[in-house]
Amino acid sequence: LDAELGRAAGLVREVPDFPEPGVLFRDIGPVLADRDAFRVVVDALGRSHTFDVVVGIEARGFLLGAAVAHAYGTGFVGLRKPGKLPAVADRVDYALEYGTAALELPAESLIAGQRALVVDDVLATGGTLAASRKLVERAGAEAVGASLVLELSPLDGRQAVSDWNVRTLFTT
Ligand code: PRP
Ligand code: HPA
Repeated sequence: LDAELGRAAGLVREVPDFPEPGVLFRDIGPVLADRDAFRVVVDALGRSHTFDVVVGIEARGFLLGAAVAHAYGTGFVGLRKPGKLPAVADRVDYALEYGTAALELPAESLIAGQRALVVDDVLATGGTLAASRKLVERAGAEAVGASLVLELSPLDGRQAVSDWNVRTLFTT
């Protein structure tokens, strides 16, 4: 299993100067495209957390999070970029590695008391995770932790969520 995860880690593609000069972008697309890598990564993201619902972050967190929810038999709630949702329950604005952003929680999605696992592809500055946790907790749900595929350790995103159970499968 560790060998399978190691093989999956090798499929992450590095793209220089995307989305702007000086940024080395990690693309998990090839991991999703590979049948065996996708399965082992989805299984690992849900393992050893206890949760009733998965919260995935637009856009790549949707691909992983919905798969984790299906694999572990829970529902899925997507946190969206502004302007996409017909009915918004809550919104948090935050800073990104490049630029600023906001996330919105859909109306009638999370239920108070639910144990929510946040899933995304990459931990960079941690701003997205911190914003997601805030949305989960303000909805009255329990943010049990977060699972991500890749941690960009030079950006030290863990300090933004240091008092939280954040698991990452691969680290650069
Ligand atoms: C990326 C990534 C994470 C976030 C990590 O999303 O998928 O959600 O940035 O950055 P942070 O730790 O610095 O907050 P992006 O905004 O590129 O959205 P996309 O998935 O829609 O392309
Ligand atoms: N890959 C994907 N998402 C990201 C990255 C990256 O390298 N940096 C910040 N968000």
